[in-house]
Amino acid sequence: MRHLHRYLAAGTASMVAVLTVLCCSPGLTVASAAGAQAPATSAFNQGEVRAAEDPAVVAHGKALYGINCQACHGSDLRGGDMGGPNLLRSQVALTDKHGELIVPIIQGARAAQGMPNLGLNDEDAGAVAAYVRSVISTIGGQGAPPGQKKVLDIVVGDATRGQTYFAAHCASCHSATGDLKGIATTFHDPVQLQSRWITGGAGSAQASTATKPTVDVTVAPGERVSGELVRIDDFLVTLRRSDGTERSFARKGTVPAVVVHDPMQAHREMLSHYTDGDIHDVTAYLVTLK
Ligand code: HEC
Ligand code: HEC
Repeated sequence: MRHLHRYLAAGTASMVAVLTVLCCSPGLTVASAAGAQAPATSAFNQGEVRAAEDPAVVAHGKALYGINCQACHGSDLRGGDMGGPNLLRSQVALTDKHGELIVPIIQGARAAQGMPNLGLNDEDAGAVAAYVRSVISTIGGQGAPPGQKKVLDIVVGDATRGQTYFAAHCASCHSATGDLKGIATTFHDPVQLQSRWITGGAGSAQASTATKPTVDVTVAPGERVSGELVRIDDFLVTLRRSDGTERSFARKGTVPAVVVHDPMQAHREMLSHYTDGDIHDVTAYLVTLK
């Protein structure tokens, strides 16, 4: 994204994040928020017959899944561009009976592990959980792909409203005639385009280096080593320098000073603010950028 740096300069301060925002560092160990795990006895057991789901609830949940989950967990639930795990193999999803395990996760129980709070109320989150269970029940819970993939028609928004939304929330970093010109030609499938703009491309195979977090480590007063962030946890930070070499530094509390810059922080934060309508409208607008 060649034009972006210029646009980004003004927003840099807000995107300087200190450690807490790191969803993507494999080594970051954070205690799971309480409440995600219900007692095993209340959950679905292998061999137990599943209650039939209400088709209207499942349909509602499916639409919400397409908007809120697909980018990370994939259209077939087997994992997506942005690194969400395969839900068809997820113990949580396989044993959920009525949302007791899935709903708390949708509502932020795993926020520290990179699964954002999607801001869905109990009813909507419950509907998504019902949809996930319904897919699992059609495949026998063994992680095989569902028999049929139905693609939602997702271009249902209003492009004019989307343009207004874009001007207010995206134009500080992007331009329809600049870096995003032709984005609908590059991603001609609206589903792909939608997950691209929601995630900003982070974590995907075609992600540009501009999506990768970088880190500055102040090793001595006035002496700073910077590079692409490879891994960070409470005890060690590893970075890759521009010449390709990796360097690691032991961490003890706040020493050495470590500052992570995550260019995708804005995209991640916006995720919990979009309404269904915003997402539909922005996608409808971006589809016009051929
Ligand atoms: C920004 C990406 C992202 C989005 C959007 C997202 N997830 Fe996740 N999800 C993740 C990640 C990453 C994990 C793994 C978290 C962990 O390691 O505990 C996860 C974990 C889960 C798990 C637990 C899997 C397991 O077995 O541990 C469930 C269930 C789940 N997500 C469901 C959903 C649903 C339903 C939605 C939509 C309402 C959703 N997710 C949206 C990234 C995402
Ligand atoms: C604070 C800055 C910022 C804001 C605000 C922002 N983005 Fe992004 N966006 C980025 C960065 C950084 C990237 C990754 C850079 C790259 O792909 O080269 C990105 C990537 C993207 C991409 C992928 C581009 C590609 O070539 O694959 C799309 C599409 C996108 N953003 C759309 C949006 C939309 C739509 C909004 C508003 C709802 C938005 N962005 C708001 C910073 C921002």
